[in-house]
Amino acid sequence: MRKTLVFLSTLFLCLQLTAQNTITINADHGKDIISRNIYGHFAEHLGRCIYDGFYVGEKNTTIPNKDGVRLDIIDALKKLKVPQLRWPGGCFADSYHWKDGIGPKDKRPGTTNIWWGGVPENNSFGTHDFLNMCELIGAEPYLAGNVGSGTVQELADWASYVNQKEGISSLSQLRAENGRKEPWKVKFWGIGNEAWGCGGNMQPEYYANIYKQYASFMKDVNGGPRLFRVASGANSGDYHWTEVLMRDIPRDLFDGIALHYYSVIDWNKKGSADNFSEKEYFTIMKRALAMNELVEKHIAIMDKYDPQKRIALVVDEWGGWYDSEPGKGTLYQQNTMRDAMIAGVTLNIFNNHCERVRMANLAQTVNVLQAVILTNKEKMILTPTYHVMEMYNVHQDATMLPLTVKSNNYVMDTTKLTAVSASASKDKNGTIHISLVNIDAAKSQDISLTLQGVAAKGITGRILSSSKITDHNTFEEPTKVKPQPFTGAKFSGDQLQVTLPPFSVVVLELK
Ligand code: AHR
Repeated sequence: MRKTLVFLSTLFLCLQLTAQNTITINADHGKDIISRNIYGHFAEHLGRCIYDGFYVGEKNTTIPNKDGVRLDIIDALKKLKVPQLRWPGGCFADSYHWKDGIGPKDKRPGTTNIWWGGVPENNSFGTHDFLNMCELIGAEPYLAGNVGSGTVQELADWASYVNQKEGISSLSQLRAENGRKEPWKVKFWGIGNEAWGCGGNMQPEYYANIYKQYASFMKDVNGGPRLFRVASGANSGDYHWTEVLMRDIPRDLFDGIALHYYSVIDWNKKGSADNFSEKEYFTIMKRALAMNELVEKHIAIMDKYDPQKRIALVVDEWGGWYDSEPGKGTLYQQNTMRDAMIAGVTLNIFNNHCERVRMANLAQTVNVLQAVILTNKEKMILTPTYHVMEMYNVHQDATMLPLTVKSNNYVMDTTKLTAVSASASKDKNGTIHISLVNIDAAKSQDISLTLQGVAAKGITGRILSSSKITDHNTFEEPTKVKPQPFTGAKFSGDQLQVTLPPFSVVVLELK
C-alpha cells in the first residue's frame, strides 16, 4: 500500500512537472475591436522627459531636430505607431496655464515646476510645440486640462484656441498670429488629473460636481472633432471613486473615466531598476498581474451604470516605478527585461478587456519611469519596453479573439502566479496575431495551442528574451536586448506546439 502511494505521488509530481499549458483561441468568435488607443504614451514636464528629452531647443544644439524636437525620437515613435500622446501631465497639468506657453519664446513668462523639484519652467515647449510634434509623430494629442488651479474659462479657451477655425474668434485669431492658421482638431481632453491627490485632494462627490461644471463648457466647435472628455479616475483599487463618478455624472457629459496604477514593490522602498533579486522580480510580476483584477472590478461598477459600455475605461497612467538613478533627472530609471514582462502581461490584459479598456498611456515616453526611449546627450536607446510595444502594435484596431488559458504556476514561497499569459487578434487582412508571455524566471513553458475556426497555413514569429532578467540596453551596448526571429512554434495536427523560454515575450503571426 505504501509503495503504491509513493508511486502515485511520484507519478503525480512528474505529471505536474511536465504539465503542458493549454490555450484555446476562438478565432470565429471575435467581435470587439482592440482600439489602437490602448497603445498610447504619456509625456509630462517632469525630469528629462520634455526638456533634454523630446525637446533640445532650436538653438545651441548639434542634435538633429525639427523646431527643437529630436528627429531620432520622432522617427522611433513613428515606427512604434504611437496612436495618442498625453501632455503636459500628470500632476504638472493641474499647475499648467497654457497661455504661458504660446507666442514668441523669448517673451514667454518663466514659472516654476512645483511638482517636480521646483525647477524653473521657461515655457519654451508649449501648445504649438506639442501639437506640431504630435503631427510629426502621427499621434493624436491628448491634452490634460488644469482643474486643480485653473478656471473653467481657461480650459474652455484652450479648446477654442486649438480647435476653432481661423477668423471665428479672438482666440483662433491669436493662434493664427502665433503661426498656425489651421486648427489642430484635438479630440482627447482630460478634465484634471488625480483629483484625489495632486490634482486637488478632492472627495469624489466634490470632484464629480466640479467635473460637471468644467465639462459643460468644453464644447465641440463647428467643423471640429467631437470632444472625448475623460474624467480623472481612481487611484488603483479605489472602487468608491469610480462608483461615485459613474453615479453622479450624466452620461452625455463624459466619454471616459481614468484609472492610474503603477507596479511598485513598496512606495517607501521601491528598489533598484536594474539590480534586483528574483524575489523583487516576482513581487513586480504579482503587481503587474493585479491589473487584471483592477480593470475587472472597475468595469463591473461601470457596467452597472452603463451596460451599453459607452464610457471607456482609460488607464492613462501605468507602468513600473523604481528608485530614480541619482544625477540622471527626476524619476529616471533603467528599463530591463522585467519591464518587458510588465508591458507584455499588461497589454494582454488590456487587449482581453478591449470592450471597455479603450485607451491607455504608459508612463512615460522618454527618460521618466517605464520609458520606451532613454537619451544621453546625442545618444538615444530603445528599451526592452519599446520592443514589446512595437511587437504588439499589430493588435492595433484588430478584432480581439477570445481565448482561454490554462497555465502552470510560477511559484515563490507559497505564492503562485500564472506563468503564461496571452492575447490574440485578427486584423483586417485576416492575419491572426497571438502574443504570449512567460513570466517564470527559470522555467520554459510548453504550450498546446488550439485554434478553433481557422485553418492557418504559415506561421512566423518574433521573440524578446535575454540571458538575465536584469538585462537591458545601455548607451555603450544599445542593442543587447532586441527582438529576434522565433522558431519555437510548430504545427502538430490541428494544434500549435509552442515553447516559451523563461521570461520571454513572443508574438506569432498566422496566415
Ligand atoms: O507619472 C508620474 C506622476 O504619477 C504623475 O505626474 C501623476 O499623475 C502620478 O502620480
